[in-house]
Amino acid sequence: MSSSIAPRWKTAFDRAFADAPPIAQLATLDVAATTKPRVRTIVSRGFLSPTRVPALPLIVSTTDIRTPKVNQILTDSAVELAFWAPDAKEQFRIRGTAAIVPSPETEPALYAKCLDAIAGAHGSTRVYEEFKKEKFDWEKKRVEVFESLSPGMKASWCRPQIPGAPLVGGQEEAKKWPKTVEKPDSEHPAVQRLRLTLSSLRSITDPTAQEHWNTALRNFALLLIDPHDVDYVELGVIPNRRTRFWRWDLEEDNSGKDGVEIWKEEELVP
Ligand SMILES: Cc1cc2nc3c(=O)[nH]c(=O)nc-3n(C[C@H](O)[C@H](O)[C@H](O)COP(=O)(O)O)c2cc1C
Repeated sequence: MSSSIAPRWKTAFDRAFADAPPIAQLATLDVAATTKPRVRTIVSRGFLSPTRVPALPLIVSTTDIRTPKVNQILTDSAVELAFWAPDAKEQFRIRGTAAIVPSPETEPALYAKCLDAIAGAHGSTRVYEEFKKEKFDWEKKRVEVFESLSPGMKASWCRPQIPGAPLVGGQEEAKKWPKTVEKPDSEHPAVQRLRLTLSSLRSITDPTAQEHWNTALRNFALLLIDPHDVDYVELGVIPNRRTRFWRWDLEEDNSGKDGVEIWKEEELVP
């Protein structure tokens, strides 16, 4: 597989999830006291590859910076994802390293720790070096993904209490939390027009909407997975098939030719 085309497992993945949401179980390691596995459901929001190297697709998901998985990933970035495509009857088990793209308003020590992994500095994985070369704007991408999500989803980052902590005040309290978060500018078009002509009208826009938007965007983080090993199982064909794909050469191509071998594949016993 040359670096100038997407890996075959990604083409198979896109086909398998053409009509189904790519929902996966994400396993991390919790190394707090003794190492323990942790697993939870996440949704993939698509792939992101460096322009020059489509063979290095990052899996893009989202999370809340306050959730325990963030600290687990920052302590040990090794993760595994298990996707099941029910219509295609295919499983993709993807091992890789995870990284977090936080809001610039995140507490500075945590922010710096997150940025370390994606900065493309010496020691980061090749995909982030490639993104650095093309001056990729991670904050722009974070906001773009946030804006693409539904108002109901956005509200999940606006919950005032920490995810996973005991609920203070019970359901009565939870009912008071915002159920939707809309972009403040998406107010009624008539108000928008007025605001354009009378800049002083800014002061009458709903401060609560702006506050909710800011809170949600502050807690919102991208969760990126850089795959290096894919176990692809096809149960929709007889005999069943199983293929392992792995990254084997992450070195720059010194020959001057376009592309280096990045992914190898091998058939396995299902
Ligand atoms: C269908 C489904 C999709 C989910 N998608 C995500 C997701 O994309 N990102 C995420 O952080 N949590 C997602 N969750 C919630 C997580 O499974 C989990 O409960 C939450 O993130 C807390 O995880 P943690 O305590 O391990 O950090 C989803 C849950 C379900 C049931």
